[in-house]
Amino acid sequence: MKVVYIIIVAVFILSFTNDYYLIQPKGWPTKNYDFSNNRLTPAGVKLGRRLFYDKALSADCTIACASCHKQQYAFSDSGLAASKGIGTRTSTRNSMPLFNLVWAKEFMWDGGANNLEVQPLAPLTNPNEMGNTLAEVVRRLNQSTSYRRQFRAVFGGTEITGQHVLLALTQFLGTLVSYRTKFDSVYQDIAAVKFTEEEQRGYALFKSNCNRCHTEPMFTNNQYEALQPPQNNANADSGRMRISGAQADFGKFKVPTLRNLVYTPPYLHNGSCSTLQAAIDAHATFGGRVLATEQQALIAFLKTLTDKKFVEEYH
Ligand code: HEC
Ligand code: HEC
Repeated sequence: MKVVYIIIVAVFILSFTNDYYLIQPKGWPTKNYDFSNNRLTPAGVKLGRRLFYDKALSADCTIACASCHKQQYAFSDSGLAASKGIGTRTSTRNSMPLFNLVWAKEFMWDGGANNLEVQPLAPLTNPNEMGNTLAEVVRRLNQSTSYRRQFRAVFGGTEITGQHVLLALTQFLGTLVSYRTKFDSVYQDIAAVKFTEEEQRGYALFKSNCNRCHTEPMFTNNQYEALQPPQNNANADSGRMRISGAQADFGKFKVPTLRNLVYTPPYLHNGSCSTLQAAIDAHATFGGRVLATEQQALIAFLKTLTDKKFVEEYH
């Protein structure tokens, strides 16, 4: 009797402790997405990961999320300005790296999604990317016994629903946290880690020229800015204006994070800059430009934002 009692208590306790705890690095802002309505568990993350790598999510079963978001490039694409979608299609913008998403407020270059849970609907249904519908994804998943078993273990119920698919993907995306950089060690005042003299000079330049938009420690202020004077041709990407409808937002794009830049070329929303130097030079519309001689120090600082563990360890 006693043994049975102990086993029941142990299972009861385990069912409450089997959570996946997401790190909150020292000095970082509060998370914008906190999983209070989508309990983060190892089984949920594993399921989200399986979906992320599954080509069956696209209309013709050739493209997975991971086709355009590859771990070795910090979950961006491999040196491509535009990514390959289904058939002969290509995405219209440069694939974005995926990490620290639970701290973000809006997603995509124009902020077109304001909730991490619904963000995956955009690539799933975009005709240039996966060209599918959520209903079709759900139909296919429900035909798989192993998916049904996995979904049931995470969300209960007998049928897989569209909401479950989105919640599971969110669990996986949420666990992509990149925080183990040289910058973070210095920022958190971890003993023995110091910038070199050149990185220190770059950091000072960064704080006076870049930090108001690329605000540390997330390296974005979550705002939209235009780097170039508005182009008035019919093919121009109107950027933030597509979402807000305001003429003043024409050609504005989300201020991107500057973490892991060594893994994510080419740069900018259209992938038009293949080097960091070019991306910095592209900031033409506002003052405070950095002298050529200072660029090297600035780039040395930007390289302290490289998280090698993030791209190498299992995700
Ligand atoms: C064909 C390439 C492609 C595929 C497939 C793809 N993405 Fe993307 N992803 C992109 C591009 C391009 C952007 C930028 C979109 C924009 O600004 O319009 C992006 C943006 C994102 C963002 C926003 C990141 C940020 O910081 O704002 C998230 C999150 C994301 N994708 C997740 C996913 C998930 C999950 C899937 C699978 C369901 C997926 N993507 C499939 C190319 C792709
Ligand atoms: C007024 C706001 C603002 C300031 C100040 C600013 N940036 Fe940017 N930065 C942006 C925006 C917006 C983008 C994306 C633009 C686009 O895609 O068209 C960007 C993009 C970048 C990129 C490309 C990142 C990527 O993933 O594609 C780099 C690198 C960069 N900035 C570095 C810097 C540096 C270094 C400084 C200081 C010398 C700086 N920025 C100052 C707003 C700013």
